[in-house]
Amino acid sequence: MADALKIGIAGLGTVGASLARILTSRANELAVTCGRAIEISAVSARDRTKDRGIDLTAVTWFDTPEEMAQSADIDVFVELMGGAEGSADRSVRAALSRGLHVVTANKALLARCGVELARMAEEKGVLLNFEAAVAGGIPVIKALRESLTGNAVSRIYGIMNGTCNYILTRMEKEGLTFEACLKEAQRLGYAEADPTFDIEGNDTAHKLAILTTLAFGTEIAADEIYLEGISNISIDDIHAAADLGYRIKLLGVAQRTESGIEQRVHPTMVPHDSVIAQVDGVTNAVAIEADILGELLMVGPGAGGNATASAVLGDIADIAKSRPGTQRVPVLGTPALSLSPYRKAQIQSHEGGYFIRLTVLDRAGVFANVATHMAQNGISLESIVQRAKGTDTEAKTIILVTHATMEVAVRRAVEGMKAETYLAGEPQVIRIERPKAL
Ligand code: HSE
Repeated sequence: MADALKIGIAGLGTVGASLARILTSRANELAVTCGRAIEISAVSARDRTKDRGIDLTAVTWFDTPEEMAQSADIDVFVELMGGAEGSADRSVRAALSRGLHVVTANKALLARCGVELARMAEEKGVLLNFEAAVAGGIPVIKALRESLTGNAVSRIYGIMNGTCNYILTRMEKEGLTFEACLKEAQRLGYAEADPTFDIEGNDTAHKLAILTTLAFGTEIAADEIYLEGISNISIDDIHAAADLGYRIKLLGVAQRTESGIEQRVHPTMVPHDSVIAQVDGVTNAVAIEADILGELLMVGPGAGGNATASAVLGDIADIAKSRPGTQRVPVLGTPALSLSPYRKAQIQSHEGGYFIRLTVLDRAGVFANVATHMAQNGISLESIVQRAKGTDTEAKTIILVTHATMEVAVRRAVEGMKAETYLAGEPQVIRIERPKAL
């Protein structure tokens, strides 16, 4: 049997500790599958004394990941700290510069400088694997990077944040408040260190930016993503969506259009009979529409220690199974030097259906005036309904669902209504996404 593959793990949080436990408990099986043993030879974590349920006394501890990246006793640097800058960035660069393989779950780092890191890895002929960075345990990186080569992807979209999906699902099913659901997601270890990254869509945006590059062969453009989080979604929206045959999900969508590539993250109405609408809780789903393959939907656990560690483990096993000099898959699917510049399609030119919820004063002519604003902007309506709003006899709710229209038209119509005197609250606008077949 070949020499053991020696790994150094930076970060022993939820994912790092799960990984260490699995590597220890499955050591024999992994050695057989990979043709060599995988050995944890170094770790770096803030707290040396914490009980993680594994014996790490025989392992070399380093005070900082940067020091561990210089260790002569590791072949693979496994970065599980997170953070777009600072220690994660410095230590990954140090490891790649030394010609170490790197495995990371760090979507924020890849979204910020993934192309540069890919170039470094490709220059050194080492692997930079990051399956766990997007959709936890779902093997979407390998699917895009390897299995779908040769397909022209037209759209990729998905539920990529377990925390948001968990919150929306529990709000809908149990009528719990947003805050209570968020606390529970944090307790279960799904949320980011700063949960606003989950709630406001940044985490989904980082993941989407990486998928866009893999799907379309363009440079990573995380700063060009249109972003809306879920903190603005109310129980009223969730109920109205259900009445009209939709469910609300936080989706990340990247789509090829005539004017460029759209990248957007926002609460989205999906038809309740679509497969993605049934994806509940912390589960993630990624759909890919490609010309040769057709439509693919991958559903699975998107967050949590074991699910994420499973993806990290697969990446480490790939390195254990490869032989020196046999690196053949470009880090981002296309060689980093051959990625094309990202051409952005503006959100104003997005075309699709819209859900618009208005709270209006109950006066003669309001309904007709709302319809007029729609007509003046060339918006065709699929449905328009008016409801009493709770016990308030003064205010009414009007809900509109449009046929496919341009975002710019919807914005103009909403601005027009805001200039009228009958709105009793801020209008809510939610985009509708229709899966092709699934
Ligand atoms: N906070 C993330 C989520 C963890 O909720 O999905 C996985 O990236």
